[in-house]
Amino acid sequence: MKRLLLMPFISLAAFAQTKPDPALEGPKIIAEAFVKLSGALGEAIAKSGPASALSVCSEKAPQIAKEVATAHGVTLRRATHKPRNPKNAADDVEKTALEAFMAALAKKEPPKPQVITSADGSRAFLAPIVLGNPLCLQCHGTPGKDIAPETLAAIEKLYPDDQATGFKLGDLRGLWRVTFPNSK
Ligand code: HEC
Repeated sequence: MKRLLLMPFISLAAFAQTKPDPALEGPKIIAEAFVKLSGALGEAIAKSGPASALSVCSEKAPQIAKEVATAHGVTLRRATHKPRNPKNAADDVEKTALEAFMAALAKKEPPKPQVITSADGSRAFLAPIVLGNPLCLQCHGTPGKDIAPETLAAIEKLYPDDQATGFKLGDLRGLWRVTFPNSK
């Protein structure tokens, strides 16, 4: 008889465990998207140079983010204070996180990812994107020095309002945001 009484608690505990922990799941989801994206980017640059690899970033990046997000039942996006694609401009929540990441970097501390709960109950995991790979400078570094003229021309054609140049290694480029719907 006693066993029967315990049943509801056991099933409740099992339910609680299926709710993902953004601080644990977030980094895995981001790592998966990052590996896929860097792989596609490196391959395209090696094959045809940075100017042609632009399409990987403009078309494949959102596509990869969508695929990975759908597989995990979340939404995934990259946001930044200096957008290339205006769609990636940071909203207020993202701006606050970016400021905290920049403050940490200014103190030579590693910026810490954040978990945020919104008014609608959804939870988000926000992780800094710090430029750590010289490859990134071919399209986000200093024009004329890191960015070849034909690459710059191709960027300006696709993104007339581009703000995403002039970065150095170690700079904050933006953030990944994984949003877990409140039903999850
Ligand atoms: C071949 C050129 C190229 C290279 C190399 C490149 N990017 Fe980009 N990056 C782009 C383009 C184009 C976009 C705009 C994508 C879009 O339209 O969503 C972009 C967008 C981004 C964004 C989204 C925010 C925004 O400004 O729109 C981040 C973050 C980013 N890049 C980080 C990186 C990092 C980190 C690396 C190195 C691993 C890198 N990029 C390498 C071309 C490049």
